[in-house]
Amino acid sequence: MNKNDSERLAALLLSLGMEEAKTEKEADLVIINSCSVRESAESRVGGLVNSLTRLRLQRPRLIIGVTGCLPGRDKQGLLRRKMPQANLFFSSSEMGRLPGMLAEFFPGLKTNTFSFSDYLKIQPRYDSEYRAFVTIQTGCSQFCTYCVVPQARGLTKQRPLIDILTEIRDLDNRGYKEIVLLGQIVNQYQAPDPENFSVYNPFQQDDFARLLWEVNQLKSIERVHWTAPHPRYLTDETIVALTLPKQVNYLHLPVQAGNNEVLRRMNRGYTREEYLQLVLKIKQTRPGLALGTDIIVGFSGETEQQFEDTVSLYQQCDFDIAYLAKYSPRPGTAAARAWADDVSWDEKKRRWRLLQDLMEKTTYQKNQQYVGQIKTVLVDKYQNGQNLGQSEEQKLVSFVSDQSLVGKMVRVRIKEAAEWILRGTVV
Ligand code: 5AD
Ligand code: SF4
Repeated sequence: MNKNDSERLAALLLSLGMEEAKTEKEADLVIINSCSVRESAESRVGGLVNSLTRLRLQRPRLIIGVTGCLPGRDKQGLLRRKMPQANLFFSSSEMGRLPGMLAEFFPGLKTNTFSFSDYLKIQPRYDSEYRAFVTIQTGCSQFCTYCVVPQARGLTKQRPLIDILTEIRDLDNRGYKEIVLLGQIVNQYQAPDPENFSVYNPFQQDDFARLLWEVNQLKSIERVHWTAPHPRYLTDETIVALTLPKQVNYLHLPVQAGNNEVLRRMNRGYTREEYLQLVLKIKQTRPGLALGTDIIVGFSGETEQQFEDTVSLYQQCDFDIAYLAKYSPRPGTAAARAWADDVSWDEKKRRWRLLQDLMEKTTYQKNQQYVGQIKTVLVDKYQNGQNLGQSEEQKLVSFVSDQSLVGKMVRVRIKEAAEWILRGTVV
């Protein structure tokens, strides 16, 4: 989401007549797009502002900006006060007001031509020429007790379907190969303008499944990927939509914990049994689908036994990948207010390591099934004599060819599989 916001920010600055600097050392303006999910992410922002402030000793006219989740959650202005060196401090949704704010610092800019009340109306300057992020909703109204997103990004706002379809059709016309639909609970998408769905759309109830079908009808786009769904809102229609031909062979389905008491205190809205049932249904509907998840270890009050439930759930689901986080209390969240952060750092680290080792072992074993198979790879780069890209399962694949294949779909026969890379040769 932040990457996509940065692409909008880049488009906005370019449209004002600015040019991209190669490094921050040459820049007149540097804007840091911040994440607030964990404390460590926010601390890095402070560090970056400090190093830019030192750079400003040599370039006194350097303008420093901070945007994203950190200003978004700073309702009382406390964080702003901690960063007086920043000239600009605004949330993502205030991006449309940036031209006005910049006018003060850059009198020559063509700043009066733009005013967007809805920042999603700004068309992104996509970083890639073959894969594009498309935001379909912003904010979140779920209020998981550990999560700062509802404060940082506000309540759920659905983007009009017509805007999404216009953006995606334009990408299709430009020859894009992969679309990644983005939302905090992406599968909770509800079109404010459902009349724009095609009358031939076979899905009738779930607007997200209907959207997946619309994207599937396009010509040049070959892959559709979305992140992140919430298990509670994954309907039968969306599970059926997993079998649409352009759907990647991967689903990211955050579980967070495997113990019912912990899930309840996290306000996740499902039980361990419901999650397992869902995974079973998904695997039956689309056998071979690679599954990923997010897990938090060391949530307030999580006992050793409760953590063991997460380990056993991991084994039962046989995940391909998990993003493991050590719990970090976030100011303003229900968990931070109600409970102490009572699992020690060392214990969090131990739980994290145990799951990380389990993941690496599981993934290594699972990846062996691909040896000998032919996989379609969307090639991302050519470096040091090697091509690197992603399979339909979102696995990293390497092979030896040349620069001309970047941005192309290539069939690769897998010869060797490690935890985080499959190596093969072009067919
Ligand atoms: N502490 C640790 N991890 C967190 N996440 C969200 N909030 C926190 C927190 N306070 C993790 C969740 C989420 C991912 C994006 O970040 O696992 O799915
Ligand atoms: Fe945060 Fe929960 Fe919303 Fe995800 S669903 S953004 S974890 S509140």
